Parts: sequence; C-alpha cells; structure tokens
Amino acid sequence: MVRLWKKSKIGSDKAPAIEQENVPEHVAVIMDGNGRWAKQRGLPRIAGHHAGMKAVKRVTIAADSIGVKALTMYAFSTENWNRPQEEVDYLMKLPSEFLAIELQELIEKNVQVRMTGWREGLPGHTLAALDQAEADTRHNTGLILNFALNYGSRREILEAVKAVAREAAEGQLSPDSITESHFAGKLLTAGMPDPDLLIRTSGELRLSNFMLWQSAYTEFWFSNRYWPEFGDEDFFEAIREYQHRTRRYGRLK
Ligand code: FPP
Repeated sequence: MVRLWKKSKIGSDKAPAIEQENVPEHVAVIMDGNGRWAKQRGLPRIAGHHAGMKAVKRVTIAADSIGVKALTMYAFSTENWNRPQEEVDYLMKLPSEFLAIELQELIEKNVQVRMTGWREGLPGHTLAALDQAEADTRHNTGLILNFALNYGSRREILEAVKAVAREAAEGQLSPDSITESHFAGKLLTAGMPDPDLLIRTSGELRLSNFMLWQSAYTEFWFSNRYWPEFGDEDFFEAIREYQHRTRRYGRLK
C-alpha cells in the first residue's frame, strides 16, 4: 500500500512563522474548483475530485502539524445531489477510497474521524466506511477530521427550529426561554466549536449553504487556487493571515 502522507511540517522552514498560541481551534474548508481544475487539463470532472482527495490529505497533515483541533471539510452538500449521477456516484466513493488508503495512518496520528450531515440518502458503502473510521478513531484525542457530507445549513437550521418548537409545544420550555446555546445544541454541529476560520478555494466568494449559523463570527479567507492544487503552504498562509486579524465580536477593540 502506498503511503501518501507527507512528513509533518513541524520544525520545517514552513511552519515557524505561525504563532503557536493563536492557532484557530476549528478550521472549515469549502473545497471548490475540482471541476475547473480538471477541465483546464482536459480531464473528466471526477479526475478533479480524485485530485481533490489528495489535497484533503495534505491539508489534514498541515492542520495537525500546527495544532488545529478540528478541521471540517465540505465534501458534499444537500444540493450536490442535483449533479449528474455518475459524478454523485464517484463523490460517494471518495470517503471509502480515502479511508482505505489513509485510515491506518490517521489512527496512528491520533486523528478522530467524524461526519456531519444527514445519513439518509447516503449509500451504505459510504456510511460503512465512515462508521468504521469513526469507530476505529473514537478513542483518539488529536485532530478531529470532520467530513461535512450530505450537509446543508438551511435544512439544519430548519430541523433545529422544529426540534425546539416541538419542545415548546410539549411544554418542556417556554419560547422566551430559548437561548442561543440551546438552539445550537439542536444543530448537526452540536458539541463542536464554531469555525474560527473558513477557507474557500477557487476564487468564489460565497458560503453555499455552509455553516450559516456557526459562521456568525468566523474569519473568512479566500484563495484563487483550485482545490486540487491547494497545498500546505497555502493553508499556512491562511493561518498567518488569520493571526493578523482582530476578532472583535461586535465590541470595540
Ligand atoms: C466542489 O468543486 C467540490 C465538491 C462538490 C466535492 C468536494 C470533494 C472533494 C474535494 C473530495 C473529498 C474527499 C474526501 C476524502 C471525502 P466543483 O466540483 O464544484 O468544482 P467546479 O466549481 O470547478 O466545477
């Protein structure tokens, strides 16, 4: 089996500029541009997704090397079902392909694999691979590698509204007592910190139904690179830029 992980960048000439005390706890990534990357090369779109899988590995290693606690990768949205069947089928194979190659290494690196999204609609083989990875890494304590799969934020918010409304209708709480944290506890991301930094590649400047509630105070960083060509140095550049931001949360400095 070919091991595709590169050596950790800790101690290399790339990482030192990163201040260890101001590393974002949770980084979320909208991995965009796979199709355009493939088109540029005269390749089918699925070749772009395959190359994108390798970028997932590079960024996971980079995030782990600087002490990021959670890395959420937007791998498939609730809207992506509208793509051609062949492309959907391929995207559904990627988690198992990735984990077949990398799970052992992820276990050794103390990574915790997780999934955020709706299970219904996902093929059994996709769920089986993710469930196995989650089970095998459950006792790990390092980086959380969280795949947002069959995820869409409007539906997530709507389902949370319904859950809270049911509690109110059943008399378990009064509408006036509903707090932000109670509501956040009904979201698919319950228990996860909000993203501190959101990266989107390929030059597109939008959220595409991703973490709408959770990104209220997230710092955004956009790259013109297509996702398959996004590397660890791009990731570190995003982190360095983040470290120069002043997060005020609506307060004065
Ligand atoms: C958006 O680019 C990308 C996706 C919808 C899929 C992202 C998935 C990966 C990068 C692979 C995930 C890997 C694992 C291990 C699950 P696009 O296809 O919309 O690009 P385009 O805008 O250039 O067409």
